[in-house]
Amino acid sequence: MPNQKTLSIIKPDAVKAGHANAINLMIENAGLKILKKKELNLTTEQAKEFYSIHSDKPFYNELCNFMTSGPIIVQMLEGENAIELYRKVMGATNPDDAEENTIRKKFATSIQENAVHGSDSEENALKELNFFF
Ligand code: CMP
Repeated sequence: MPNQKTLSIIKPDAVKAGHANAINLMIENAGLKILKKKELNLTTEQAKEFYSIHSDKPFYNELCNFMTSGPIIVQMLEGENAIELYRKVMGATNPDDAEENTIRKKFATSIQENAVHGSDSEENALKELNFFF
């Protein structure tokens, strides 16, 4: 797999709980480089747009409320096979299904408050990176 870039978000639950540094250590230990990073608060409009792919889901409004509930940290990651590698490091969306030693197993508290986000394809990585950087 070629060198890739992907978007990482440390979500409000994990920022609030002070897990950002521990999460970034796991990311770097996996061999991913954090090229860019910024802390910000999403507006409701931004959250709705970012997650518009989920607008028909029953959890959409709650998800947007959660994502605007406090600061998030958005990051550009780079590395060999970065998209898939970072998704492995994150673990399954639902922490109950996440493998040991993944970010979500360690830090997620529910399927919604699941500590981190990562792009799921090259197309979405491009879109999501352009959204923030
Ligand atoms: P993320 O990887 O950011 O992509 C969409 C987000 O929606 C997901 O992480 C969770 O935060 C949230 N989500 C996904 N499924 C559910 C669900 N069944 N109930 C509540 N929130 C969900």
